[in-house]
Amino acid sequence: MKKNLKGLKILVTAGPTREHFDPIRFLSNPSSGKMGYAIAEAALQKGAHVTLISGPTSLSPPKVSKFVRVTSAEEMYRAVMKKAPRAKLIIMSAAVSDYRPVNYSSRKIKKKRRQLTVSLIPTRDILKELGRRKKPGQILVGFAAETDHLPQNALKKLRSKSLDFIVANRVGLKKMGFESDSNRILILSSQGKRIYLPFMSKRSAASSLLDFVSNFSK
Ligand code: CTP
Repeated sequence: MKKNLKGLKILVTAGPTREHFDPIRFLSNPSSGKMGYAIAEAALQKGAHVTLISGPTSLSPPKVSKFVRVTSAEEMYRAVMKKAPRAKLIIMSAAVSDYRPVNYSSRKIKKKRRQLTVSLIPTRDILKELGRRKKPGQILVGFAAETDHLPQNALKKLRSKSLDFIVANRVGLKKMGFESDSNRILILSSQGKRIYLPFMSKRSAASSLLDFVSNFSK
């Protein structure tokens, strides 16, 4: 891959997904989208042609070539599969919900005195499917948000999803991961390269990630 990202087609996903079980209630996670948006912005500055697919966030979209807003994991799956074939580099930084409610009620579920049970089924794993459909020369980057065993869990995901790189960060701590403006990331490559970046702004982490990926891609 070129060291300079000029003209390179990059697909970035960002933010959480929302899995509704009625019009006003959903299952989600605290992802702010800041890391994904920072990656899209850093890629733009390095001259790339960027498509950003984003779940619900309060951030204003950067001036990317194409911005697609989605809500659920299924919508993100469809949007990504549509854009992926033309992308040279795909960075899945979205915090896609692993589960969605089995049933959806188009009317608000009214409060009752008894317990309410919401059954969940797994969503489709977008990254795993991208790994299966990977085109020759395409580079796949995944994220791993972990509370423990950071390198081991990240390496497992790198292999099971056929990724070229994985970006791992610790969640559940203050000043890092979800919602925060800064992050400390560990990047692992399928070729055995690794870098544990110091604590830095998500903007700097995004730029360093793109440099690492372009330096260590064939
Ligand atoms: N991911 C995805 N589709 C899903 C779930 C996750 O594409 N349905 C992607 C995320 O965007 C991220 C990577 O897979 O790049 C890892 O997500 P994570 O939730 O950390 O891993 P899981 O495979 O869901 O494993 P677990 O939640 O058990 O740690």
